[in-house]
Amino acid sequence: MTQDEMKQAVAKAAIEYIEAGTIVGVGTGSTANFFIDELAKIKHKIDGTVASSEASAERLKGHGIEVFDLNSVSEIAVYVDGADESNKFLHLIKGGGGALTREKIVAAASKKFICIADESKLVDVMGKFPLPIEVIPMARSLVAREIIKQIGGEPVLREGFTTDNGNIILDVHNLEIMEPTRIEQILNNITGVVTNGLFAIKPATVLLLGTQDGVKTIT
Ligand code: 5RP
Repeated sequence: MTQDEMKQAVAKAAIEYIEAGTIVGVGTGSTANFFIDELAKIKHKIDGTVASSEASAERLKGHGIEVFDLNSVSEIAVYVDGADESNKFLHLIKGGGGALTREKIVAAASKKFICIADESKLVDVMGKFPLPIEVIPMARSLVAREIIKQIGGEPVLREGFTTDNGNIILDVHNLEIMEPTRIEQILNNITGVVTNGLFAIKPATVLLLGTQDGVKTIT
């Protein structure tokens, strides 16, 4: 099976978690795109969606799926999204596509977070994938210095990229994240940081992992 076939398999498996008559939270990225395409097949069964990026909102609307503003929705039953890395505790690194802030918000508003990923994303120790941090532009240098002082690593500006919220991304290279929850808390406390890409304080509920032997469910 190719990586794309594994992504497609987990996207299909995630449909099992969607309940009729509910609002679905939808993530961002290539795996989430496969999920959107699967969701289109059952669109008549759901009440609508909340999207974690402009790109996903556009793809959903292209399928004729209703996209609500989060402020007009009282509850999201399930959020489905990919990840750049996951450990066995379902702590995640997200934000490779730069949508981490809206992803964390929609995940926070959802009762369950179903993470969908191919097997390359499961790691023992997180940090090989550079950790994305969304930062208010004027705080770029301050935040970079504080990151080096407080957690180490090498923050690198994502060149030519602006988030849906008008901010920049620093990708922190060369980290070995042994305590994801503690690192997430430290980064949350740096002035100028909007969101960091660690999803450990509120991890995924379920990880659907695409492997050569089929989809594995990790809880
Ligand atoms: C976007 C994300 C994505 O979920 C993450 O980058 C995984 O992407 P893909 O499914 O394309 O591998 O966090 O901000």
